[in-house]
Amino acid sequence: QDFDHKRTCTEWEAILPTLPKQRGWMTNHLVQYQGVWLSPSGLKGVMLARDHFKSLPTDILLSTSPKAGTTWFKALLFTIMNRRNYPFSSHPLLTTNPHDLVHFIEVMIDQTPSSNPIKNSFSSPRLLSTHIPYSLLPNSVKTSCCRIVNVCRDPKDALISQWQYFNKLRPKEMPPFPLEDAFELFCDGVSHFGPLWDHALGYYRASQESPEKVLVLTYEAMKMDPTVNIKRLADFIGHPLDPEEESGEVLERMVSLCSFENMSSLEVNKSGVQQFTAQFKVPNSNFFRKGQTGDWRNHLTPTMLESLNKISKERFSGSDLEF
Ligand code: A3P
Repeated sequence: QDFDHKRTCTEWEAILPTLPKQRGWMTNHLVQYQGVWLSPSGLKGVMLARDHFKSLPTDILLSTSPKAGTTWFKALLFTIMNRRNYPFSSHPLLTTNPHDLVHFIEVMIDQTPSSNPIKNSFSSPRLLSTHIPYSLLPNSVKTSCCRIVNVCRDPKDALISQWQYFNKLRPKEMPPFPLEDAFELFCDGVSHFGPLWDHALGYYRASQESPEKVLVLTYEAMKMDPTVNIKRLADFIGHPLDPEEESGEVLERMVSLCSFENMSSLEVNKSGVQQFTAQFKVPNSNFFRKGQTGDWRNHLTPTMLESLNKISKERFSGSDLEF
């Protein structure tokens, strides 16, 4: 297996200099691979997952573009799947950041190449996550019976959330990243795992073709009505709530355990750090900013708003994706 990983890494090294390049949001540039914009290390993860990830029919895979609500949905899915395993008073989410409970396949596969790359000791069946667009998903994910939950978010809020997030991660010696620059790159599709519209449409089309395999939910819907949408999630992943859980306090406790207010106030999420790779670490607090819909109103100019709405309208026309 080590040898196979090396072969993929060699292919990655050879292909990198040949790819179109654009300015990145943090320190590194982004490269375009098969229509998708990725950081160089992101591309390595995508290629390793493509060549070596083995999906199991029982897997539950959360797919999101960055800042669509990954952390929140990791927590929600983990809570739904494990609601009979842990009392709410001593739940793992009270002391563990969701990214330590549910791993990104493209990160894990790069970090532990020689052993089974995807272990998940906390839950069975495996609960995994990815930012990889549908078009670049490993074949074994597409062909196995595993289920995919995709989360979309209003592109206007996704832009603002990404801009704020990457600004916080920029080295101190670099100047801040102006919103105008982020806006331009974002509209051109040059964002991590972007274009964002393609990311959403890829999973949307897959869900139209195979509704039993792919469920599309939005950040906004979960925010507006968490109880209804937690039930939808639970049904879809094959862990439906029984009548007692629905009418009793289980549903309510799941909502409040995963709420922005609760999660952002936990010590682990205020002071802990996510060490995704040797080079890339993120303070847990960076995953909790405002947790609201419509923060774009505080940042976008009327011209930016008009342009973004126009792109979304054109790109999403003919689909049920409306923002
Ligand atoms: P904002 O920057 O708009 O506040 P991701 O987890 O994909 O990185 O997305 C981060 C976004 O989700 C941030 O959005 C963050 O505040 C929000 N978020 C994190 N936890 C949340 C929760 N429990 N409920 C609602 N939103 C949450």
